[in-house]
Amino acid sequence: MSEIDKEYYGQYWSIIKKIEKMVLDYLESILESLSTDEEHALAEHVRSRIKRSESLIEKLERKGLTTDVNSAIKNITDVVGVRVCTHFVGDVYTIFDALKESERWEIVKVKDYISMPKENGYRSLHVILSIPITEDLIDDGFSGDRIEDVKVEIQLRTIAMDSWASLEHQMKYKKDINNTELIISELKRCADEMASTDLTMQAIREMIV
Ligand code: GTP
Ligand code: MG
Repeated sequence: MSEIDKEYYGQYWSIIKKIEKMVLDYLESILESLSTDEEHALAEHVRSRIKRSESLIEKLERKGLTTDVNSAIKNITDVVGVRVCTHFVGDVYTIFDALKESERWEIVKVKDYISMPKENGYRSLHVILSIPITEDLIDDGFSGDRIEDVKVEIQLRTIAMDSWASLEHQMKYKKDINNTELIISELKRCADEMASTDLTMQAIREMIV
């Protein structure tokens, strides 16, 4: 994170960092407790990021909203973003169920792009948490606006879905590509084949375990 980002977040920076840590700690503990044996972790990896001021401002402008940090925290649902990648599709839902158990947040939105994939083939389970800004998250001397909660977006997906999404993301941001139509349809085909393999892997696993 650059100084610009920290400046943008101002007094909210430490609140946001604490919220990010709260979610990561919770995930770490459930991943540990749910894992059936030490060598086979439930998640392949967990990554998080705090949204850069540049992207926040761009998104707020796009929505026709004011671009200050108060507005960002109130209106943007992925100020904190966490991605959890699993080996098997069943684990996505196991982790999702465990997320419902915490008393620190409320689940305010779920988009199941696994059971309802996007047109392009994108698959993932998106969960938006609303985390109240309780006293323990606020530093002494805080004098900013009392905002009620911070939203956190958790994306849960298999490794196959993740590699697909990163390739598709690269394509979107590359301007000078030929054969766009072919690439789009090939990507769609890959997404469907990978989803089918994810399901077969899940079925085989259930036969073994
Ligand atoms: P934004 O896309 O964030 O403006 O919000 P939205 O309301 O459209 O939310 P959605 O849940 O659809 O997407 C949120 C995030 O999921 C995006 O910022 C991406 O990280 C990811 N995502 C959604 N759709 C796609 C997709 O088609 N391809 C890839 N690679 N990622 C996607
Ligand atoms: Mg989108």
